[in-house]
Amino acid sequence: MSNGAETVLITGGGSGMGREAARRFAAQGLTVALLDVNSEGMAETADSFSNIHSWTVDITDFDAVCAAVREVESQCGPIYRLYNCAAIMPFGKLVEQDNAIIHKQMAINYGGLVNITQAVLPGMLERGRGDFVSFASMAGIIPMLLTGAYTATKFAVRAFTETLYHEHRDSGLRFACVCPPAVATPLLKQGRETAWPKMLEDQSEPIAPSVVIDAIQSCLDKGTFFVYPTRNAKIGAIMRRLAPGLIWKQVHQVEGF
Ligand SMILES: NC(=O)c1ccc[n+]([C@@H]2O[C@H](COP(=O)([O-])OP(=O)(O)OC[C@H]3O[C@@H](n4cnc5c(N)ncnc54)[C@H](O)[C@@H]3O)[C@@H](O)[C@H]2O)c1
Repeated sequence: MSNGAETVLITGGGSGMGREAARRFAAQGLTVALLDVNSEGMAETADSFSNIHSWTVDITDFDAVCAAVREVESQCGPIYRLYNCAAIMPFGKLVEQDNAIIHKQMAINYGGLVNITQAVLPGMLERGRGDFVSFASMAGIIPMLLTGAYTATKFAVRAFTETLYHEHRDSGLRFACVCPPAVATPLLKQGRETAWPKMLEDQSEPIAPSVVIDAIQSCLDKGTFFVYPTRNAKIGAIMRRLAPGLIWKQVHQVEGF
């Protein structure tokens, strides 16, 4: 399977931003390995690319993730870039949201990051080279009403990735923690079908996945750890630091409770 080019591993590559990244890297001639529970989605991502390969794996299953990573590396070659995109995003009021769904979100969005990190990072560290890209969210910076369970997973992703980066800052690897606002992908449907906050309706149109993938590359090249793909996202992060009470005031006003 290896074409001698660098291998990229993308979790959640069967949809959205993972798909965008996969097709872009494949077009550049890199070998791309996808890990996702969505086999059909991965087949669509790979359509017309002979250098995109798929592994149907649940990211919450550590043994399965390790086995898939071993297969990827033996069939495609060492992994030099990791994009961890796999996530789910059901919303709801915390006290009412299904208990199992809250735990499942943490297992996929945060637990999945833990699993893929421990499966892939040791090899990257040994080689002293690689890009480690972790998808948090603006939700991992600004909590809002009705998004609490998802937000908690993204706060965890951000803290984990930031610590990881500092634990390996002299490793030769490049780390990025991506904090997009709403992006036009199928993920938004999960939020809309559960409990969509008015705050999100009030925001500007979701941005295109390509904007996020461009911003990641530019931040990796500049050595900027936090990736804010838009100016408003950057301003939002500053506002949260300086005036969290003001943001909460606006959230309550808009949501009406
Ligand atoms: N879309 C947005 O508005 C937005 C905004 C900020 C951050 N993000 C984050 O960006 C990342 C990519 O999101 P997206 O919008 O491309 O989502 P998406 O729904 O389009 O793709 C997510 C993929 O993850 C896969 N997945 C879900 N559970 C899995 C599991 N247990 N094991 C393996 N794969 C699993 C899905 O099958 C899907 O293919 C996510 O981490 C998301 O939280 C998204």
